[in-house]
Amino acid sequence: MSDEGEDTKIHDLSIWTEKYRPKNFSEVKGQKEIVARVKAFVEAKNMPHLLFSGPPGVGKTTLALVTVRQLFKDVWQENFLELNASDERGIDVVRQKVKDFARTKSIGDVPFKIIYLDESDALTKEAQQALRRTMENYAQTTRFILSCNYSSKIIDPIQSRCTVFRFKPLSKEEISGIIKTIALKEGLTVTAKGEEALFYVSGGDVRRLENLMQSSSAIKKELSDSLIFEVASFAEPREIIEVIENCINQDFQSAKKKLLDTMLKQGLSGIDVIKQLQKEAWNSKADDRIKLEMIKQCGEAEFRMIEGSDEFIQLEALLAKFVLLNKK
Ligand SMILES: Nc1ncnc2c1ncn2[C@@H]1O[C@H](COP(=O)(O)OP(=O)(O)OP(=O)(O)O)[C@@H](O)[C@H]1O
Ligand SMILES: [Mg+2]
Repeated sequence: MSDEGEDTKIHDLSIWTEKYRPKNFSEVKGQKEIVARVKAFVEAKNMPHLLFSGPPGVGKTTLALVTVRQLFKDVWQENFLELNASDERGIDVVRQKVKDFARTKSIGDVPFKIIYLDESDALTKEAQQALRRTMENYAQTTRFILSCNYSSKIIDPIQSRCTVFRFKPLSKEEISGIIKTIALKEGLTVTAKGEEALFYVSGGDVRRLENLMQSSSAIKKELSDSLIFEVASFAEPREIIEVIENCINQDFQSAKKKLLDTMLKQGLSGIDVIKQLQKEAWNSKADDRIKLEMIKQCGEAEFRMIEGSDEFIQLEALLAKFVLLNKK
């Protein structure tokens, strides 16, 4: 850990996701029940294996770090091993590292050490079976905290050995609280629409939010919606809504023109806008069946674009399909 002096020196260069990473339970926003339960484990100095599941940037690694710091205090580094399942080539490396780490007793008054295994859903089924045996072999001396985006990819025997916690994207209020804290500390102003835009683009992912605030603030100290959308390569939602409304109203030419204008103005790629088209198609006033068809078509167009076909042709074809689907 760097001392105070070093901290202030690197202050301006540091990335905000690390600078604003919560250091204790009360700083972790949202995930209230999870935080309360994990805190209770820490207070009892006893915990089962944990499985943290949920989308990116919502506090899984953060809570694991808070847990070990609170549990082991100043000897946390000696009692903590962090591994990334997708870095470590194969389970053998994981097993060897776990073995070396678990062989020695924990330091301090907590009778176990903690191993944090990030992206554990990247492990194959076979590797997970091996992990399960490793978890059993060292149950006396170690606890695992596994983290994943999709708990469905984790085999049942592991899930049943863990207390599973499902993390959620942060709510608008929670995101708004984080925006205010950072704005105050960094001397930024955030307009009301800017705040809406930050929430819209982040989708409740705090890492995304903080990165976006940091890159935008390098351009301007006032974060407005147009700045946020520009930095994030996002079209303003109302422009995409207009494109879709044009399609519903059978006005293909206007839809096409609006979409092109928006893309050129913001410098967006086809892939950038297609996610938003899909999102706004679902929010549109079309009938549910038609909405589902529209969403399906977005998926096909995106697939073709990724495969390398011309994005403007794909987008025009997509708008044409939207028009046809909405024909009475
Ligand atoms: N619940 C939260 N409260 C406050 N800040 C948060 C929260 N979740 C995430 N952050 C911020 O976002 C950063 C990244 O979060 P974290 O590393 O915990 O994500 P994660 O859930 O482990 O994501 P991934 O699945 O991508 O590993 C943190 O350093 C912190 O600044
Ligand atoms: Mg993580």
